[in-house]
Amino acid sequence: MSKLPNVGTTIFTIMSKLAAEHGAINLSQGFPNFPVDEQLTDIVKNIASDSIHQYPPMAGFPPLLEKISRTIESSYQRKVEPTTELLVTAGATQGIYTVMQALISTGQEVIILDPSYDCYEPSVILAGGTPVRIPLNQDFTPNWGKIEAAFSEKTAMIMVNNPQNPSGRTLNSKDLDQLEAILTKFPKVLLLSDEVYEYITFEEKHISANTRKSLIDKTIIISSFGKTFHITGWKFVSLVAPEHLMIEIKKVHQYLVFSVNSLCQVALSQYLDNVNVNELGAFYQEKRDLFRSLLKESRFELLPSEGSYFQVASYANISSENDVDFAKRLVVEYGVATIPMSVFNADGRDNKLIRFCFAKDTETLIQAAEKLCKI
Ligand SMILES: Cc1ncc(COP(=O)(O)O)c(C=O)c1O
Repeated sequence: MSKLPNVGTTIFTIMSKLAAEHGAINLSQGFPNFPVDEQLTDIVKNIASDSIHQYPPMAGFPPLLEKISRTIESSYQRKVEPTTELLVTAGATQGIYTVMQALISTGQEVIILDPSYDCYEPSVILAGGTPVRIPLNQDFTPNWGKIEAAFSEKTAMIMVNNPQNPSGRTLNSKDLDQLEAILTKFPKVLLLSDEVYEYITFEEKHISANTRKSLIDKTIIISSFGKTFHITGWKFVSLVAPEHLMIEIKKVHQYLVFSVNSLCQVALSQYLDNVNVNELGAFYQEKRDLFRSLLKESRFELLPSEGSYFQVASYANISSENDVDFAKRLVVEYGVATIPMSVFNADGRDNKLIRFCFAKDTETLIQAAEKLCKI
């Protein structure tokens, strides 16, 4: 009997394969197509012959943990104890799986806000938990009344993704207030705050769970080097959690992976001395603005993109096809791969929306927009 009977090939694999078969421009899967900072590749070259190739300590290379802690402090004015409150994992997917295995027990419920990133639900199910998927509003803002109504005696955790993939929306300070108020009413419920796009926000600054005192003792926060430094293939993130939760998380991490790639850890510990994470928002805002301005002439209606590197668009003016068929036809007939939004909804709700990834070089964005304007 399958433990995940509803899981098949992910839409990311399907669309990327279709894009390759048809020589299409791939704006589907979320990864940058431009080179990483030469400073980082130079560091990798320089350290490759050093004695850094054996197991690093279980929770992470100590100088790296120190520097992550400093980055958090300078970004959010929160002091995180490197030895007890930090862990580096082989990507957010592994981090989330580890957290679920450590903190969720059979029969407990985990609230997930839809549209949601695809690894959330399977991680909950594999831990024996029950995902409770609550749709966001039509414009992807949270309906906190509806979310609170989903809390019960069985609720063990709520997962929040801010900035959000796939919608590109962010939570504002009133949202964080509401979340804090609900979690104050349900003091045993934990928060998993997936903040992998924390440094990719545009008009408004990111509001991290790190900045809310009442959340610190119950929250696991995920930060991503992959997203922040354009190195998604390194599969490298860090987790922050209060010590009493981190003890349990580390117990699972110890037997799941024990420790993660030593070369990456040493390289990043040096790179963090030279890089300003706060420049990332402006870098991606330029791409977002370019892509949006190029699509002005198209028949797509662009929804707000406040953070992450995703732009959602409605094709309701173009076609009444379901979004999966429309996205496939876009690849085959127009040469652009995107992601249909219905796949992120538990109920498969199809609002005629597709997601573009604009983490691409200028030429790619221009070429893609030319094709999209012909539709
Ligand atoms: C919101 C969100 N969470 C988690 C992940 C998984 O990240 P990783 O590649 O580090 O496993 C992604 C990747 O796109 C993501 O967008």
